[in-house]
Amino acid sequence: MLSKADNELLTRVGPGTQMGDLMRRYWHPIAALSQLDENPTKKVRVLGEDLVLYRDRSGNLGLVAERCPHRQASMLYGVPEAEGLRCAYHGWLFDAQGRCLQQPYEEAEDPDTTFRDRVRIKAYRVEACGGLVFAYLGPEPAPLLPKWDLLGLKNVYRDIGACVIPCNWLQIMENSVDPVHAEWLHGYFSNYVWSRLGKPERIRASRAHRKIGFDVYEYGIIKRRVLEGDDESHAAWKHGHPLVFPHLLKVGGFQWRVPVDDHNTLHFWYYTYAPAAGVQVPENEPIPYYDVPVPGPDEKGLPRWDLMDASSGQDIAMWATQGAIADRTTEILGRSDKGLVLYRRLLKENMEKVARGEDPMNVFRDPAKAANIVLHTEDASGRSRFAGASGKKADDSPIPGAANSAGRVGGASKYSPVLKNREGVEAVTLETVPAK
Ligand code: FES
Ligand SMILES: [Fe+2]
Repeated sequence: MLSKADNELLTRVGPGTQMGDLMRRYWHPIAALSQLDENPTKKVRVLGEDLVLYRDRSGNLGLVAERCPHRQASMLYGVPEAEGLRCAYHGWLFDAQGRCLQQPYEEAEDPDTTFRDRVRIKAYRVEACGGLVFAYLGPEPAPLLPKWDLLGLKNVYRDIGACVIPCNWLQIMENSVDPVHAEWLHGYFSNYVWSRLGKPERIRASRAHRKIGFDVYEYGIIKRRVLEGDDESHAAWKHGHPLVFPHLLKVGGFQWRVPVDDHNTLHFWYYTYAPAAGVQVPENEPIPYYDVPVPGPDEKGLPRWDLMDASSGQDIAMWATQGAIADRTTEILGRSDKGLVLYRRLLKENMEKVARGEDPMNVFRDPAKAANIVLHTEDASGRSRFAGASGKKADDSPIPGAANSAGRVGGASKYSPVLKNREGVEAVTLETVPAK
């Protein structure tokens, strides 16, 4: 149970809040690069700030305040120029650093005007990596964008799914240190969903957790578990898998949880798939993006069972129904929740570091350290690995259970265009395997 003050402290991310200050020390994924192929401007809201992401005609990315500083029209309607974005209303042109480059009427009436030099639009740094666009909203000097391993994998197919979940980011992250939910939500409840849908009961023989453990390590928290039938020699206990501080989970693929504001979270699923033997994946191909549906009650107030037949929908339903901001003043924590307690403590320690003027965990300034950061995880067959779900065939997998990270790729990848459309992809998820 938390005090009201602590619950506020840990969840609020707007400008000037302590958690907002901590979160502003990190690079956040805000879009898939391929989303700009459809339209070169995109509205994004991050940490309570309304912004517009754009790609100009030279291919450069920019991220500026949504409202034009002249008279507040939306830059979503901005016209990308060779350099920068031109406001649709009166043609003021801004570059990616926020400088005003042109004010057509002002310059027509007074060619010597320096008015534009005194005008700026708020602008933030953006950088593309692995098909994602990352933004940095914090103080200078900006740290380096960390290249977590899957972002730089060679010769793999990738896809990126996302949705905005109507709840605070912290309850989603707490789920990353809550192993026990897997056997219930993604086992027992999942089978119930399938029966509600009139499908044969799913072969989801989730094994019970016998022991869970958590360790703070260099990049965050390693989550370990022993399942019924296993012992501590199993990779799920020896290696576990990481919550990468502050808001990334690696299990199979990556899941980022980016606070949109206090009540909404932009969730990304980032997966890699090995091609069939001998197949070369073309480089520089756009990485497909897909929307992940958010299950909510239907118009009669009934559960959307059809959107909860995979783990992503099940998770989202639980996160969102905890409330816009879960009321932790009334929670009753048990032994299954010790990971949450550790994670909250780590968040607090790092907020304190920022308040002291220090860099928090996972802020990188040494290029060698940020270059290719290997995040080891247990894999489906019990080996330690770092290549996500790549190359794992579902029918090679053991019983789908909580320790089976290939199976846990599932969920959102149900909606993946790669798995649906691509021939020669070896890695499939258990969600794509018809129930026997
Ligand atoms: S409102 Fe943008 S140029 Fe006038
Ligand atoms: Fe889950």
